[in-house]
Amino acid sequence: MDGVIVDTAKYHFLAWQRLADSLSIEFTHEHNEQLKGVSRVDSLERILQWGNLVLNNAKKVELMDLKNKWYLEYVEGVNPNEMLPGAHDLLLDLKKNGVKIGLGSSSKNSVMILEKLGIFSLFDVVIDGTIIHMSKPHPEVFLRGASALQLQPVDCVVFEDAISGVQAAVDGGFRCIGIGDPSVLGQATVVVSDLRGMSLAQLQSILKQ
Ligand code: G6P
Repeated sequence: MDGVIVDTAKYHFLAWQRLADSLSIEFTHEHNEQLKGVSRVDSLERILQWGNLVLNNAKKVELMDLKNKWYLEYVEGVNPNEMLPGAHDLLLDLKKNGVKIGLGSSSKNSVMILEKLGIFSLFDVVIDGTIIHMSKPHPEVFLRGASALQLQPVDCVVFEDAISGVQAAVDGGFRCIGIGDPSVLGQATVVVSDLRGMSLAQLQSILKQ
């Protein structure tokens, strides 16, 4: 979802950066790239590790709540205009053609965002951070999604903007369309810069690769 369907990855970045700043930990776009697709708790652990900071659990919960409070403030006004290029058209096209669609996200805020965008009803299943036990790069989120859709991984295509997500898809036995920079998402089956012009025919051809 974040960074694939809607431009919310930038709000996660801003909230994590604000938190890291408050802890005097350096946090760059390169650091952020490693957090994309990674759960809230695992993201905090990585940031603390980068800053060589050891904290007790109560403090960690407090920091995660703070980050989420800031994130929720940033996404308060999210609207369908913030959907990424081509994403909405592709969802509508797949739906029209009877293709099953699942959301696989580490975010616990997924349903709220899909509702703000008015696209919740397009998804046959939603597997998100409130359901999974293991964050990407573990393939659990996609394996559960395929299973809920009653499909085998080999018959699904995963869309991902995150290194951790591409890894999860590949390890789960899925074809994966990376959205972003080929030098970052090199493990994906194919990498595109955005979803404009993406068609069902392309997905069918990728499934044959
Ligand atoms: C997604 C995003 C991450 C985010 C994670 C948890 O995977 O790519 O940047 O940290 O979800 O999101 P949450 O909304 O539960 O804090």
